[in-house]
Amino acid sequence: MALLCLRCCSFSRRQIMSEIKWLSVIILLCVYGMDFVFCQARYSIPEETPEGSFVGNIANDLGIEISRLVSGKARVVTKGGRQYVELSRDKGTLVVKERIDREELCKQTTPCSFSFDLIMENPIELHRVIVEVQDINDNAPKFPKGTVSLQISENTEKETQFHLDGAVDLDVGVNGIGSYSLNPTEHFKLKINNEADGSKNVEMVLQRELDREARDELKLVLTAYDGGSPKKSGTMRIHISVLDANDNAPVCKQSVYKAEVKENSPVGTVVNAVSATDADEGINGLVSYSIAQASVEARNVFDINTETGEITTLQGLDYEAEKSYQLNIKATDKGGLKDTCKISIEVIDENDNSPSIQLMSFSNIISENSPIGTTVAVINVEDADSGKNGLVQCKINENIPFKIESSLSDYYAIITDETLDRENMAEYNITILVSDQGSPARHNNKTINVKISDVNDNPPVFSSDEYKTVVIENNSPGVAVLTVKASDADWGPNARLSYFLDDNNIQGNPVSSFVSVNSDSGVIHAVKAFDYEQMKTFSFNVTARDGGSPPLSSEVTVTIIVQDQNDNAPQVLYPVQTGGSVLAEIVPRSADVGYLVTKVVAVDVDSGQNAWLSYKLHKTTDRALFEVGAQNGEIRTVRQVTDKDAVKQKLTVLVEDNGQPSRSAVVNINVAVADTFPEVLSEFTDFTHNKQYNDDLTFYLVLALAAVSFLFITTVVVIISVKIYRWRQSRIFYQSNLPVIPYYPPGYADTGVTGTLPHMYNYDACMTTDSRKSDCKYSTLGGQSVLVVDSSFTETMQRAMREKQFQQELESPEVVRK
Ligand SMILES: *[C@@H]1O[C@H](CO)[C@@H](O)[C@H](O)[C@H]1NC(C)=O
Repeated sequence: MALLCLRCCSFSRRQIMSEIKWLSVIILLCVYGMDFVFCQARYSIPEETPEGSFVGNIANDLGIEISRLVSGKARVVTKGGRQYVELSRDKGTLVVKERIDREELCKQTTPCSFSFDLIMENPIELHRVIVEVQDINDNAPKFPKGTVSLQISENTEKETQFHLDGAVDLDVGVNGIGSYSLNPTEHFKLKINNEADGSKNVEMVLQRELDREARDELKLVLTAYDGGSPKKSGTMRIHISVLDANDNAPVCKQSVYKAEVKENSPVGTVVNAVSATDADEGINGLVSYSIAQASVEARNVFDINTETGEITTLQGLDYEAEKSYQLNIKATDKGGLKDTCKISIEVIDENDNSPSIQLMSFSNIISENSPIGTTVAVINVEDADSGKNGLVQCKINENIPFKIESSLSDYYAIITDETLDRENMAEYNITILVSDQGSPARHNNKTINVKISDVNDNPPVFSSDEYKTVVIENNSPGVAVLTVKASDADWGPNARLSYFLDDNNIQGNPVSSFVSVNSDSGVIHAVKAFDYEQMKTFSFNVTARDGGSPPLSSEVTVTIIVQDQNDNAPQVLYPVQTGGSVLAEIVPRSADVGYLVTKVVAVDVDSGQNAWLSYKLHKTTDRALFEVGAQNGEIRTVRQVTDKDAVKQKLTVLVEDNGQPSRSAVVNINVAVADTFPEVLSEFTDFTHNKQYNDDLTFYLVLALAAVSFLFITTVVVIISVKIYRWRQSRIFYQSNLPVIPYYPPGYADTGVTGTLPHMYNYDACMTTDSRKSDCKYSTLGGQSVLVVDSSFTETMQRAMREKQFQQELESPEVVRK
C-alpha cells in the first residue's frame, strides 16, 4: 500500500496563471512510501521555447540536494516520444532540450502536457515531472482552399445562403479562430453560426440581387482572424461567376428605323438591318426577328432574316404603286421576351415611267379662217414618276403655224399661231413631244393630224385674161366656138365652178341670142350663124362663179372675131339693070380711041379678097371695039369707030370677086353707036314699041321724081345741117353721114404696083357714123376715088336720073348731039 503524501506547493492556481509569463509553474505533489519517494512536479512552459531555456529548478522544488542528484545519478526518463527537457544535474534545473511545438505534440487537445520521470538511484527515487506546454499564437487561421469558385444564378433570391468552408487555426483557445470578415460586402454578408461542437459554420447570405448584365463576376475575400495577440489571419478568395438568367428582353437599338430603297431594285436587295441586343447571355441572349405587323403588301414585298434582322426585298418595288412601307419588327429571345421596333421604308423613285400624252379635247378639222389663237387641242401630260422624274416638258414640232401653251400645270393647249391657208397647206401633222427631267430622261410623242377645212376665200381665176377666137361666118348654129376655163383654189363646193353669160346687149340684141355658155364646161356655143357683113367682132363677158356661200365670181371678156367668107356676090350699081331696060350708052361715031363709054360700078359687101372685084368683057357684039378696065370697070373704045360698026352694040361685063371660090355678077350694057338720036331710036325700036304706055309712065315718073327730089333735097339739107352742127361740137371729122365704100381695092392697079397688096384685109377702121345704122365708112389708102352711095335710095335715084336724062335726050336730040 502506498502512502500518498501530497504536498502541494503553495501556489494557488491564480499564481500559476500569473507566472506563465515566466515560463514555468511548479506544482509539487509527493507521495511517500516505505522504500521510495514519489513526488510529482508540474511545470508549465510556453511552446516554442528555445533550447536551453530554463524550465524549473527541480532540485529546489523537490527538496533534493544537488549532491544527491549527482550521487543518485539522477536522470530523466521519457517513455516513448521525444525528450523535450533535460536535466542539468549540477544545477538541479530542467532546461528545454528540444523545441516544443504544442500543435505537434497535442494537436487540438488542451491543455497540452508531456511528462517524464526523474529517476535517482541509491535509493531509488522516482519523481514524475509533468510539463504543461502552453499555446502561443504561432499559427494563422488557414482555409482549406485558397480559392473557391461559386456559380450563382443572377436571379437567385435574396437571403439565399451559401455555405463556406471555415478556416482552421491550429492554435487553440484564444489563439484559435476568432472572427471572419468578408469583403466587399456589396452583395453578401457573412453569417457565422456557432455549432454545438464549438466550431463555426460560415455562411454567405445574398443581400442584394446579382445582375449578370452588370457584373458577371464577383471576387470576394473571406478573412478569418484568430484571437491571438497579435492576431493572425488567413484569407480565402471567393470567385463568384454570376450565371445568366433570361431576365433581359431584347432591346432594339432604335425604336424607329428609316430605310430607303430604290424602286426596281432586284429581288433580294438588302434594305436595312434592324438589330436588337439582349443583355442576356447565350441562348437567353439569342434574338430572332420577325415581322410583327405589316400590311399584306408589305409582307409580300419584304422579308426579314430571323437571325440577322436583315430586311430584303421579295419582289421588285414600284414607287408608283407604293411609296413607303411600315413594318413592325419583333425581336424575340428564346425565353420569349421581346421588343418591337418600327422600320419605315421609303421607296425612292426612279425614272421608270415615260410621260404620257392624253388628248383631252381635239378638233381634227379647223377652218382656215380661224382667228389666231384658236384652240386645236387640249392635252394632258402625265408622268407617274415624282420629282424631276415626273417633271414633264411639252413642245410641238416647229415650222408649223401652231404653238403650245400651258394653261394649267400638266395641261397644254395647242393653238393656232398664224393665219391658216388651206390652199397652201391642207393638213398638218402636229407632233407633241414630251420629256421628263429624269436622268436619263424619258420621252414620248404623239402625232395628231389637223385638217384645214376650206373657206370660200379664193375667187375663180380664168386661165387667160381674155379670150379671143376667130369664127368663120356662116357657122352652123350650136357649134362650139371656144372654151373658157377657170380654176378655183378652194375645195369642194367652194371650187365647183359654173359659167354664166353676162346679160349685155350686142347691137341691141341680148348676148344670149348670139352665144350660150355651158355652165359646167365653160364651152361657148354659137347660137346662130354669124354674119361678117353684119358684125365683124363682138365681145361679151363670161362670169365664173363658185359654189361657196357666199359665192365668189370672176369675169372674163370673150371676143369673137367673125371672119369673112365669100358669101356675097358682087353687086352692080351701075349701069342699073332692069328687065326691060332701054338704057344705052351712046358713043358718037367720031369718038376717039380710048373714049370712055361708061363705067361699070360694082360693090361686094364682103371684105378683103372677097371684095376685090375685077371686070371682064364677057360677051360683045364687036370684041375689037370695046375693052373694060379689069380693075376699074371703065369701058373704053379700043379703036376708031367706023361707019361700018353697028349702031346697036351689046356688051356683057362679068364682075368677079377674088374669093375662093369667087362669086360673080354679069351686067349687060347697051351701047348705041350713032351720031343722031333717030338713028339710035331706029336701032332700038324694040325699046319704044309701047311708047304710049311709056308716055303715061313717064308722066308719073316725072311726078314721082319731082316729089322724091323734093323729099331728097329736104332730107339732105336737114341731115347736112345736123351733121355740121355735130361736127362743130365734137370736132371729129365726120364728113358725111353717108357711108363711103371703096369700089375697088386701093393700090391695086392705079398705083401701078401690080400683085402687091399693101392692105389685103382692112377690118380695123370700121366706124359707124351713126349708131342707128350698120353702114360703114371704110378708110382707104389712097382714098380719092370714092362713090357716094346711099343704099336705101341710090339705085332708085340713079335710075330715075338716068331715065330722066335719057328722056331729055330723047326729047331734045340737039342737046344730045352736041
Ligand atoms: C401626216 O402624216 C400622215 C401619216 O403619216 C402622212 O400620210 C401625211 O402625209 C402627213 N402629212 C403631212 C402634211 O406631213
